[in-house]
Amino acid sequence: MQNLMGRDLLTLGDLTPEDLEAILIRAKSQKLAHRNHTKAPVATGKSAALIFMKPSLRTRASFELACRDLGIHPMVMGPADAFSRNETVHDTVKVLERYVQVIVLRTFAHAHVEEVAEHASVPVINALTDDFHPCQVLADLLTIKEHKGSLAGLRLAYIGDGNNMAHSLMLGGALAGMQIAVATPAGFEPQAAVVERARAISAEFGTGGGVTLHTAPTEAVAGADVVVTDTWASMGQEAEHDARVRAFAGFTVDAGLMGRADSRALFMHCLPAHRGEEVTDEVIDGPQSVVFDEAENRLHAQRALLSLVL
Ligand code: CP
Ligand code: NVA
Repeated sequence: MQNLMGRDLLTLGDLTPEDLEAILIRAKSQKLAHRNHTKAPVATGKSAALIFMKPSLRTRASFELACRDLGIHPMVMGPADAFSRNETVHDTVKVLERYVQVIVLRTFAHAHVEEVAEHASVPVINALTDDFHPCQVLADLLTIKEHKGSLAGLRLAYIGDGNNMAHSLMLGGALAGMQIAVATPAGFEPQAAVVERARAISAEFGTGGGVTLHTAPTEAVAGADVVVTDTWASMGQEAEHDARVRAFAGFTVDAGLMGRADSRALFMHCLPAHRGEEVTDEVIDGPQSVVFDEAENRLHAQRALLSLVL
């Protein structure tokens, strides 16, 4: 197994199946330690830049707590602090790396986090871009593993926008050997290059994973073990909200749609949810929903990731 120390996490395509397994095992053991109050601050004396160019509740809170648990000093910054005042990405990164041992960045264009990583001598972790949300999917895979026992061979249906969550689920599912069925309205499909990358990962590592694309949600959810959705209008797409609500008619995850999945299927959503749009109250508040386990697992998955990277 290749060591994760010093490595970037820009997309889940940066990991091998063994890396993913190592993160999930570490997350599980650290979660138990957290519960038993025996957690160890294994990175004492280090510091982290947590930079948020977009809003955040879960990612910000969980990264800040994960840092504190590990003995890392977290410095949370926003658009007024970093990449502001026309300072170049190069100069910003060269300054930051004199202070911190890891940069965690939430931003718009995926090329921004790539440019940061290009210049940085310290590891860079993607805390969401327009195209990928790898840390969320680490938490999601931990959650599924906890509830289902294992990941390989499971069928996951993603219903909605072919966005950053769809992309990261396809890559994570490929590493874990899962079958990912993505249903979107025409024109909102995931990027073809990411579909190809997910298929290439499954083939390269022989994980048995797969991706299928659908336009009928009923087709994607048939017999699924996990049903996932996300907002129809992501951060930065607020002006398109009303048009998107019209375009996504028929894509709400409601009790009728959940009824077509396996009777023990989990319902998942990275949150924030838009109740009455992509999911009904009945489903998100229902017995199959594990959305708050997912939110909690952000903390455990990211603590594991930081401890392995540092
Ligand atoms: N799921 C998630 O990333 O939540 P935040 O946008 O609140 O961080
Ligand atoms: N797709 C959503 C995820 C939020 C955590 C967005 O990018 O806004």
